[in-house]
Amino acid sequence: MQIIPQSIFPSLVWTTLFDDRESLNARLLELVYQLRNQDPSGVANTNVRGWQSPNNLQNLPEFEELNRRILQICARIGESQNFRPDLVFQHQAWINISPPGASNKIHYHANCHFSGVYYISLKAPECGSIFFRDPRVASRMFTYPTTQPTEFTTEEVYMPPEEGRMYVFPGWMEHGVEENRSDRDRVSIAFNVLASPRPR
Ligand SMILES: [Fe+2]
Repeated sequence: MQIIPQSIFPSLVWTTLFDDRESLNARLLELVYQLRNQDPSGVANTNVRGWQSPNNLQNLPEFEELNRRILQICARIGESQNFRPDLVFQHQAWINISPPGASNKIHYHANCHFSGVYYISLKAPECGSIFFRDPRVASRMFTYPTTQPTEFTTEEVYMPPEEGRMYVFPGWMEHGVEENRSDRDRVSIAFNVLASPRPR
């Protein structure tokens, strides 16, 4: 007797590694620290002991290259999921500088289709991973009595960061970032993307 598992309602995280990451990250790193020097207190959000910029990178010409890639990648993902062809993708992006000891509390992003993060500089794996909480958890009555979690029974998935890699995931997916236990800053740019019909 053959038992066939079939995946239904899968949750996806998309990742892409940029070929020109070294030169791109060198440019971004300089810009990021310039912005922090101009606004050393930043904004308070889910970051614990870290520095976060205002959500305004989408308006800064210096970040145009990364802004363009964020929108291009999300448009491609939308296309892969049969999004309507008449949509405009818009985003908000901000910087996270997480020094040793810093982390991000678990949270989600309302009012957007995609959220994501691009890693500029870090020391993995000591800098900590981004983790995602099982979106099915609200309807879960029991913890499965397993010796080792599987993709089906796990309650959290950890994905190690990598310099030059972008992660994109649905805005509703709860996520957080582990404490940075390395001796270097973990520097990333996070974003939310909304696809809406083109105004006529
Ligand atoms: Fe987030």
